[in-house]
Amino acid sequence: MPGIRGPSEYSQEPPRHPSLKVNAKEPFNAEPPRSALVSSYVTPVDLFYKRNHGPIPIVDHLQSYSVTLTGLIQNPTKLFIKDIRSLPKYNVTATLQCAGNRRTAMSKVRNVRGVGWDVSAIGNAVWGGAKLADVLELVGIPKLTASTNLGGRHVEFVSVDRCKEENGGPYKASIPLSQATNPEADVLLAYEMNGETLNRDHGFPLRVVVPGVIGARSVKWLDSINVIAEESQGFFMQKDYKMFPPSVNWDNINWSSRRPQMDFPVQSAICSVEDVQMVKPGKVSIKGYAVSGGGRGIERVDISLDGGKNWVEASRTQKPGKHYISEHNSSDKWAWVLFEATIDVSQTTEVIAKAVDSAANVQPENVESVWNLRGVLNTSWHRVLLRLGHSNL
Ligand code: MTE
Repeated sequence: MPGIRGPSEYSQEPPRHPSLKVNAKEPFNAEPPRSALVSSYVTPVDLFYKRNHGPIPIVDHLQSYSVTLTGLIQNPTKLFIKDIRSLPKYNVTATLQCAGNRRTAMSKVRNVRGVGWDVSAIGNAVWGGAKLADVLELVGIPKLTASTNLGGRHVEFVSVDRCKEENGGPYKASIPLSQATNPEADVLLAYEMNGETLNRDHGFPLRVVVPGVIGARSVKWLDSINVIAEESQGFFMQKDYKMFPPSVNWDNINWSSRRPQMDFPVQSAICSVEDVQMVKPGKVSIKGYAVSGGGRGIERVDISLDGGKNWVEASRTQKPGKHYISEHNSSDKWAWVLFEATIDVSQTTEVIAKAVDSAANVQPENVESVWNLRGVLNTSWHRVLLRLGHSNL
């Protein structure tokens, strides 16, 4: 791994924004206050959630940094950052969401293992970089290939960070070759975030961005790309980030019985107010985000004030000032929409948001029905309680 190294301790972590809510210090995991998510369609880099499993790698010499492409391919090679930058550059607006987003609410049902996230382990960024499909073409794999002559069917991304779950080894994950070589899947090797050079927390000098898929597959600080026959055998593919039914516990879990989670389901959350917030009687603005995986657009966001008996539709925008139409070809298919509804509050009220995606998938009503021991994919209706009283709103 020339030019880049993964430290074994935390003395050289980058500076971070003071308003982030720190859920774990070492490794560093933090999310912004929920209100920050709805103040702009593109999440500012310093307020973007940070999810790490080890100390942040250090680039000593960018010119000597290279990515190795190897495995079941004819021509293994090394690509330097200048080689990646010389490929056509794409800017893809995509929402990255940790599978553990909204875990804290799930842990209130029954204990779960994992970092406690509120609703902000999610962010929307403009990722700039080369398409993985173009990079793989350089090593002789044509676009839209599901299997190489040598039997490669998956693309594994390996980092340089040192993770205790990997016994001090690097973070790794894979995606199917058919997705990696599909230009429309927009899988990027990104070197920019929101028009700026990627920063250390988010994967400098190069990270993978797999739009529409849980954040765990978007490997940061890329060291090598391996074309392999089976999906990656890394810890985070095989022993984590899988969705189990509520009946599975730590005594009867069989990790191999489930596939690694890839696309994330339809999700939404209210961000302009906190849960159990005091408000004055009168109009309250309810704003939040809604997003679905797999490139499925958001068809609707519904708001209820009576436990789900009656609903009103919120308005949706994607770019500032532009009403969102999910199937419009200029809508950002990998990106969230922001929604807004104004409600009248005259008594203590539970506000509920639920989103529907373009395949008519709907968020589940109760967190109990999707509870799982790792606390992943809490996509249940999002509820906030507004209490009548004095407030600064
Ligand atoms: N890549 C490496 N090398 N190490 C990591 O710990 N965390 C993953 C993914 N890629 C991780 C990684 C997880 S679980 C998530 S949700 C996203 O990065 C978070 O990306 P971010 O910190 O840029 O928001």
